Amino acid sequence: MKLELRELTKRYGDLTALDSFTLTFEPGIYGILGANGAGKSTMMNLITDNLKRDSGEILYDGRDILEMGDEFRAVLGYMPQQQGIYERMTAESFVSYIGRLKGIKGKELRRQVDDVLKLTNLDNVRHKAVGQFSGGMKQRALLAQALLGDPKVLILDEPTAGLDPRERIRIREFISELAKDRIVLLATHIVTDIESIADKVILMKKGKLIKFDTPENLIASLPEDWQPVAHYPSLEDVYMYFLGD
Ligand SMILES: Nc1ncnc2c1ncn2[C@@H]1O[C@H](COP(=O)(O)OP(=O)(O)OP(=O)(O)O)[C@@H](O)[C@H]1O
Ligand SMILES: [Mg+2]
Repeated sequence: MKLELRELTKRYGDLTALDSFTLTFEPGIYGILGANGAGKSTMMNLITDNLKRDSGEILYDGRDILEMGDEFRAVLGYMPQQQGIYERMTAESFVSYIGRLKGIKGKELRRQVDDVLKLTNLDNVRHKAVGQFSGGMKQRALLAQALLGDPKVLILDEPTAGLDPRERIRIREFISELAKDRIVLLATHIVTDIESIADKVILMKKGKLIKFDTPENLIASLPEDWQPVAHYPSLEDVYMYFLGD
């Protein structure tokens, strides 16, 4: 299984939000780091077909995802950045609703809704309105819908934004367990969220790929004389060295 981005480009007027971006994903967790406006969500919106590309290709096992249509959507799970979720729906009805949009029906839908609510620990609040959830519970509801259909490609746009450390660690560990046999793309500003779980890290700046490697290799690539603070170099130092200006 692989997902290839080839020379993928997206422009908004004069601004090139994603600039000839080329990368191949295989099963594993990919942490995507970049400042506000670097193009992380743009890349994710192109893969999830929520945005039209200007040029380039997105291939899943060699086939363009636009040609695959529903077939690609069936293997895709997407957790969007915004928490604009249906506040008046209950957790159960929200997840079922997204399931129906994905084309899952009847008994199978009920089974999968049960599964993902249990996985995300929302089973006991399934009849509660999402509007009454805490931030962490809302994030889990968003994650629950992304898991419907046992997706092979999971796109998570800042899944731990706004969470307290305990919730963040829980979600991080959960994602790390999910990753087997899946391609997981995870955009975040919280560098420590991916330092321990990402197989590979992508550094983006102004729509371009700056660096792509394992966390260990990236840390090892820091010049020896670049020691800003008295501690062992971490992925945060990598971020500051390559992206912080
Ligand atoms: N609908 C739009 N119209 C015009 N410009 C846009 C639009 N959406 C995004 N942009 C611009 O494209 C660039 C990339 O935005 P994008 O949302 O992909 O960044 P990001 O890396 O996800 O940032 P953040 O960390 O803030 O979520 C930014 O300069 C942004 O202002
Ligand atoms: Mg974003």
